[in-house]
Amino acid sequence: MSTNQLDQKSQAWSALFSEPVSDLVKRYTASVFFDKRMWQADIAGSLAHAEMLAAQKIISQSDWDDIRRGMTQIRQEIESGAFEWKLELEDVHLNIEARLTHLVGDAGKRLHTGRSRNDQVATDIRLWLRDEIDLVYGLLRQLQLALLDIAARHADVILPGFTHLQVAQPVTFGHHMLAYVEMFSRDAERMQEVRRRVNRLPLGSAALAGTSYPLDRERVARTLDMDGVCNNSLDAVSDRDFAMEFAAAASILMVHVSRLSEELIIWMNQSFGFIDIADRFCTGSSIMPQKKNPDVPELARGKTGRVVGHLMGLLTLMKGQPLAYNHDNQEDKEPLFDTVDTVKDTLRIFVDLVGGITVKAEAMEKAALKGYATATDLADYLVKKGLPFRDAHETVAKAVRYAIGKGVDLSELPLNVLQEFHPDIAQDVYSVLTLQGSVESRQTLGGTAPEQVRYQIERHRTRLA
Ligand code: ARG
Repeated sequence: MSTNQLDQKSQAWSALFSEPVSDLVKRYTASVFFDKRMWQADIAGSLAHAEMLAAQKIISQSDWDDIRRGMTQIRQEIESGAFEWKLELEDVHLNIEARLTHLVGDAGKRLHTGRSRNDQVATDIRLWLRDEIDLVYGLLRQLQLALLDIAARHADVILPGFTHLQVAQPVTFGHHMLAYVEMFSRDAERMQEVRRRVNRLPLGSAALAGTSYPLDRERVARTLDMDGVCNNSLDAVSDRDFAMEFAAAASILMVHVSRLSEELIIWMNQSFGFIDIADRFCTGSSIMPQKKNPDVPELARGKTGRVVGHLMGLLTLMKGQPLAYNHDNQEDKEPLFDTVDTVKDTLRIFVDLVGGITVKAEAMEKAALKGYATATDLADYLVKKGLPFRDAHETVAKAVRYAIGKGVDLSELPLNVLQEFHPDIAQDVYSVLTLQGSVESRQTLGGTAPEQVRYQIERHRTRLA
């Protein structure tokens, strides 16, 4: 075999095989057309490994120089699009290694000393995912800031709060938006926690058992900015729990986006008319000229299913695998890549979409006046006059029933009528029966009063600064 054997022959691994695999099998087993997107991680991992091999005198200084020079050129070739990815070379690892050997000869063939594609690929995914997590984290921060902005602009706007999707109590729009800030802040926290477990180094585990070369794994971990090494070689090359964890965190995040989407869609419905979404996120209908559809929220809700599906795929992929590495694991990449792409695109769009929401305060307040949303306030009023809560509840239920019969709101019943339900009701009742009185009274920490909302907005802004 020539020195360029790796990129010359039709299969990359060995002279052992007497029969070539069919084109279909080649395509079936190759991963280069998707895993090439990890090329930067692959080169970074190889450079850190080679630098350590030289420091440990496992390869010579001049081999290290050659490897570095070759990788610099490969990086340029990939960036410029000149790099020729070959299906025959199976994956990103063998493609880059073959090109390196072609460019620098024997030094390229020494790069793989004390390494296997098993610990190499596990390292690559972790490096790649770590950087993607940082991007997702940044986007989550932007989305929280966008939500805080709209919450601040409409901190006092009142809308009906629902339970069971029935009018329950009035809440402020700022408070409603802050609920999502809380959700996305936990998503960001989860991403940070997942990152700690992603950012550990498998290299040095070799194929499965470790290696007889005197590798300095801690040094490689430091070079790659990782938080330490994986401490069991069998585990390091085989488990993909970090990918499942990421997919789980991503799924929860998308479920939050999906809930927000559902609300935006409902609010945009003509029967509600609570908000409008900027035209750039909507499309029309080819048959109904009046239609403006909330496409982006609908698709975000739909794409949530696909991300949750990827989580299921990854869990199932791992389920039956014995230790250590199995080729099944190659199937971890596409779900992971698609999860990252979907989450990043969704967050980017939502940062902009949230900023472009028009709040229709009048429609919200009108709706809040409809469903006897201040009935609890009347009950609380009676409790403050000395009634046990259960009796107050009963009394107000009767008053609501009466008001429904008359087709009026509680606040529209004259004082003498209200007093028939309880003699202690006085003129001051009207201040609790108004929407403003109701929300302003809910001053518990984390409650809906505009004052509390402003306090929380400041707290979040300080946290995100
Ligand atoms: N393309 C493979 C993957 O993604 C790399 C590791 C292959 N190792 C092996 N021994 N075939 O998992």
